[in-house]
Amino acid sequence: MPLHSEDAPALPLDAQGILELAARSMFQLFSSVSQGMFLVDKSGRIVWVNEGYRRFLPDLGVGSVDQFVGRMVEEVIPNTQMRRVLETGQPVLIDLLTNKAGTFVVSRIPLRDDADRVIGAIGIVLFDHPETTLQPLISKFALLQRDLDDARRELAAQRGRSRLGVAGDGERRAKYTFASFVGSSPAAAEVKRQARRAAQSSSPVLLLGETGTGKELLAHAIHAASSRASGPFVSVNIAAVPDTLLEAEFFGVAPGAYTGADRKGRDGKFKLADGGTLFLDEIGDMPASLQAKLLRALQEGEIEPLGSNKLVPFNVRVVAATSRELPALVREGRFREDLFYRLHVLPIRVPPLRERRGDIPALIEVLGEDLALRNGTAPPELLPDAMALLAGQAWRGNIRELRNVLEQAVMRSDSLSIDAAQLTAILREAGVEPAAPAPDAGGQGGAPDQQSLLRPLSVQVAELERRAIAAALAAHGGNKLATARQLGISRATLYGRLENPD
Ligand SMILES: Nc1ncnc2c1ncn2[C@@H]1O[C@H](COP(=O)(O)OP(=O)(O)OP(=O)(O)O)[C@@H](O)[C@H]1O
Ligand SMILES: [Mg+2]
Repeated sequence: MPLHSEDAPALPLDAQGILELAARSMFQLFSSVSQGMFLVDKSGRIVWVNEGYRRFLPDLGVGSVDQFVGRMVEEVIPNTQMRRVLETGQPVLIDLLTNKAGTFVVSRIPLRDDADRVIGAIGIVLFDHPETTLQPLISKFALLQRDLDDARRELAAQRGRSRLGVAGDGERRAKYTFASFVGSSPAAAEVKRQARRAAQSSSPVLLLGETGTGKELLAHAIHAASSRASGPFVSVNIAAVPDTLLEAEFFGVAPGAYTGADRKGRDGKFKLADGGTLFLDEIGDMPASLQAKLLRALQEGEIEPLGSNKLVPFNVRVVAATSRELPALVREGRFREDLFYRLHVLPIRVPPLRERRGDIPALIEVLGEDLALRNGTAPPELLPDAMALLAGQAWRGNIRELRNVLEQAVMRSDSLSIDAAQLTAILREAGVEPAAPAPDAGGQGGAPDQQSLLRPLSVQVAELERRAIAAALAAHGGNKLATARQLGISRATLYGRLENPD
């Protein structure tokens, strides 16, 4: 095929013409692939919106295009940063904007005249529902945020300890006991019962549960309640150590194995935990080569430091944890079956928060007091609608997520009382579409009480449907197709229920 067809329209020959053409093409491209666009003049007044943008108007509380065009941008788009672009003349190529209409990935570009003066700006909504379209990025961000939160808390705890004058080796002591595990729901009581039993034994314990459910807390508590309580508690986060360094981290390095800094040799975690408990966190992330070595160590009760040919016996009780589906990893051949069974002697499934909603009020109380203590303020007070809202969420980040939401609410609220609207905004900003409030907040969630079971069946069924839909929507970041699939209903049925919930 010829590269240039004779009768194809040609590019303009002058640079200006090409630029104009490029500008026009880009504008058309953005207008068609973006979710919406609008223009403001120099004073920040909206002068134009494209077709795509119109669907955001109802969520912004604007009835029609006529009520939108002609208004000052900040009057109709809360939290917009368009004015800054007009003032500075600097584009914002990518940003997250959250307001009552949701969270959006946006771009803001100044428009200049021939004399290079800013005469307006263009706002582009690149994606709406970034929580679904940008899922990989957001998950990564959430993971980093999680580690940052944990590190900050650890630092605060260490500072607290040094203020109290606790000896340095306090770091190797358990930080939590079973009393720290808040919850009296049947599911919480059961997990504590199993963990207490595990504390009496010296076999390996395997803690399985979603992120933020309290696995690490339980590992500390098991150690503190065991006969090894006076020995060290040493933890290794396998996901956080580069694969190439893990072996040395675990088994240590013999003197003379390396030149340089490590010449003298270094104790591994097995040695450091001698007489105590070794907590292997994120065990599902362990590389295959190390799995084989760990298995051998557990079978023989001996380790071989790097660069040594001597086996050294160890006296350590292993507690492992993971939020991954370990049996699935075994099926996929990514986790050794023999190691799995070695560790699976005392498995404890730590339930997600949504299976023990009855504990939410007590958790809010304790987490609130903890926050208050750290900030030197009074504990926050949640209004009933806020309590009901929190009790109804899916809490995929479990207790860590609950704590973060409370922390945000306290940080942002001028007064100590927190209402549902504030929490809704915080959840949205975190990329979570809030689920419907739980009707029985404060009750022993899960099982409905006798009185509510005596209401007309149609009312109860409708209520259950609403809750199921809200939970599934939250779990799928508002994606309706995935929600309908999960619930085994058609999309039309789902839309019907959403539009007309009763
Ligand atoms: N039952 C509980 N009572 C009070 N606080 C809790 C409870 N469970 C968890 N927490 C708190 O929630 C946060 C997360 O808990 P933890 O670090 O133990 O979770 P995890 O299961 O190890 O999560 P991940 O898999 O993400 O590492 C911690 O600050 C912990 O103190
Ligand atoms: Mg953990």
